[in-house]
Amino acid sequence: MALILGIESSCDETAVAVVENGKKVISNAVSSQMAKHAVYGGVVPELAAREHLTAIEKVCNEAMTAAGVSFDEIDAIAVTHAPGLVPALLVGLNFAKGLVAAYGKPLIGINHFLAHMYGVFIDSEQYEFDDPALYPMAALVVSGGHTSIVIITEDGRARVVGSTIDDAAGECLDKGAKMLNLGYPGGPVIEKLAASGDIRKYNFPRSLTGTAGKALAPENRFNFSFSGLKTALLYHARNLSPDGNAEHLEGQVLTDTLASYQEAVVDVLCTKAFDAVKHFRCRSAILSGGVACNTPLRRRFESTVPRGVIPLIAPKKFCTDNAAMVAGLAYHYYAAGKFSDLTLDTFARLPHITEVPFRRRSA
Ligand code: KG4
Ligand code: ZN
Repeated sequence: MALILGIESSCDETAVAVVENGKKVISNAVSSQMAKHAVYGGVVPELAAREHLTAIEKVCNEAMTAAGVSFDEIDAIAVTHAPGLVPALLVGLNFAKGLVAAYGKPLIGINHFLAHMYGVFIDSEQYEFDDPALYPMAALVVSGGHTSIVIITEDGRARVVGSTIDDAAGECLDKGAKMLNLGYPGGPVIEKLAASGDIRKYNFPRSLTGTAGKALAPENRFNFSFSGLKTALLYHARNLSPDGNAEHLEGQVLTDTLASYQEAVVDVLCTKAFDAVKHFRCRSAILSGGVACNTPLRRRFESTVPRGVIPLIAPKKFCTDNAAMVAGLAYHYYAAGKFSDLTLDTFARLPHITEVPFRRRSA
């Protein structure tokens, strides 16, 4: 049995969790700073770092108390070290290093992107991360910072085959909501208002899908682009608002606009992901990351997954940032004997993903 303490501070959630054997969540504490950033319409990195500093010890104590264990019983300390906001990541990483030094535990650096993907396997009685029947696997991770498709093969080799070339899908929803003065984070606000709108009312662009009368360059087949959609929303809202101010769009026009806007995002995400699923002959398809909380996206993903392919959709509570996914994924590094040391650094961008830790492969 291995008990791993996970720490997450890559964006605006300070989170600490204790997970047993990569599966069983013993405790999962999250402190959100969302309200602090809402006034700015987005996450302010320095503010995030300060808030993490204030919260981290308290959140860690909360997780340890809820788990009812002492540090002596913890087998390893795992921490998100990339990608994310560097000032924010530094708080979690240095706190983790402090625990490692104080208690003499091994350190495991975790890639936030892969941790999101792992959200599917936490608490799951049905699926195992290293079950060969799920591979090759396509993972669509959609959050405020990322929109990428990773293909993982049975031997644990991983390759990012497509990413956004500008905004992430969550960013597109957040910035769209900000333009219309609907608050932050935009994804949940848009989902709520869009529920009473018509998804077919307005036709928003689906960039890099080859549907705009322009052939799609082969290198962009699995890439995403959402900045054009965001700009289209701005012009659309100005045109239809009573006084030309995008922030004053209201009533049914607003809800139809949001429904159609969200539909464009959902459509592009599923179309691209399933094109990759077919191209790489995948046997399962993961949907995870904060935007995967979106019910229309979850429904579309489940109902349009290619025949014979297993849809693996992360539970909503493990879609947005949390530390259970960090501690869960870390177990596989622990079991494979893959540890970091105190030179572990933070990185803003997605480091090159080449493999995932499979016990089987490294045994
Ligand atoms: O994974 P996450 O918590 O943080 C990052 O790693 O970025 O994702 C946050 C993103 C935000 O862009 C937020 O608007 C989006 O997830 N989000 C949603 C929903 N809930 C959160 N997007 C659409 N529908 C939702 N229900
Ligand atoms: Zn995240």
